Amino acid sequence: MRMYDIIARKRDGFAHTREELEFLIHGFVNGTIGEEQVAAWLMAVYFQGMTGEETAVLTSLMEHSGDQIDFGSIDGIVVDKHSTGGVGDKTTLVVAPLVAAAGVLVGKLSGRGLGFTGGTIDKLEAINGFQTAISAQQFLQQVQQIGIALAGQTANLVPADKKLYALRDLTATVESIPLIASSIMSKKLASGAHKILLDVKFGSGAFMQQPEQAELLARTMVQIGNSLGRQTVAVLSSMEEPLGYAVGNSLEVQEAMDTLQGHGPADLTELCLTLSGQMIFLGQKAATAEQGYQMAAALLEQGAAWQKFEQLVNAQGGNLPQGLPQAQYQLAVCASQSGVVSGIDAKAIGHCSMLLGAGRESKHGAIDLSAGVLLRKKTNDTVKAGEQLAILHYNAAYQQRAQEAALVLQQAYQIDNGPVQQSPLVWKILCD
Ligand code: URA
Repeated sequence: MRMYDIIARKRDGFAHTREELEFLIHGFVNGTIGEEQVAAWLMAVYFQGMTGEETAVLTSLMEHSGDQIDFGSIDGIVVDKHSTGGVGDKTTLVVAPLVAAAGVLVGKLSGRGLGFTGGTIDKLEAINGFQTAISAQQFLQQVQQIGIALAGQTANLVPADKKLYALRDLTATVESIPLIASSIMSKKLASGAHKILLDVKFGSGAFMQQPEQAELLARTMVQIGNSLGRQTVAVLSSMEEPLGYAVGNSLEVQEAMDTLQGHGPADLTELCLTLSGQMIFLGQKAATAEQGYQMAAALLEQGAAWQKFEQLVNAQGGNLPQGLPQAQYQLAVCASQSGVVSGIDAKAIGHCSMLLGAGRESKHGAIDLSAGVLLRKKTNDTVKAGEQLAILHYNAAYQQRAQEAALVLQQAYQIDNGPVQQSPLVWKILCD
């Protein structure tokens, strides 16, 4: 078999055989096939696409290219959750302990963030002492003993994806549905959970801006999971405005803790209950997702989700009474006119938090865990000229950029005369 022929077949619109994809992935990971040929193949995939079957085979080969977590020794159903990412998305911090309180096992490997704010692992590290680099043995033991463990991905989890993603990033081939779906799902499958819940976002602050594109990605991922024997459900949710009020690592952890204690923002609480309901159903602790939702609402109200979060933090060395990192400075950004907030551009708010140091600008860049934006107004709130729209949190090194961030924030808010019809927070739920 020759890589040249594999490229030509995709260029001409044919579907690959398993043997061809095996040759490609093994050769690329082992270094016997060079980047120039894989780059040409990626571009051919970008234009010609892949069938559902090809995408599932590619995903499975990628999944097996490195370390895999084996939950075989665990007694119970392990359910994982993945979000395609958004501004102010701290749902994992709430949903994971909430569903664990319902008896669903959660063993989740998460990544660090690149862009607007940190990923789940960065956020957890805002908690003093919290260890995210735990051994596979501790990870498995903790899942069995307390029903929940959240840890960083190992360096050798899906090396095929690391190499392919780096090349896609250089060759303008990131935006291809089969390549995105196989990239995300290979990491979920290698993380070992029996069942998977996907939160696929659409809107200005999401990876996929149009709902139809997000749906296509969600369908592709659900089909991959189901065809490879891991039941997968996708929730399509809106990211037109930030989720909740807090954007930035320690600010988001505080908001997640407020939500776990029953006084979180309405949109964040609602999305967390919907996601939890689906996970509780997948984990077979409720007969339907609706029953799972009711169970989650009751556990939140009784304080069981908060207790599970405390148990998780203690098990991984965290110290909640120490408090979260606080930024040195706060700057209020005020409305220049009176009216009703008719929209908040989530992408612009994400940019604003990056300017304050809350997100990574490059893969190994620094991140300021205390920085970020705390919104004071959300869509359809009334506002008077001079009233606070948001508060910027930042440290001395970002003082100059805070002025730019204030301008970006002001422009992110649209203020009009009357209330607007918002797109629903949860648009669709796909299970096959
Ligand atoms: N996230 C991933 O993990 N992979 C992609 O290709 C895009 C987003």
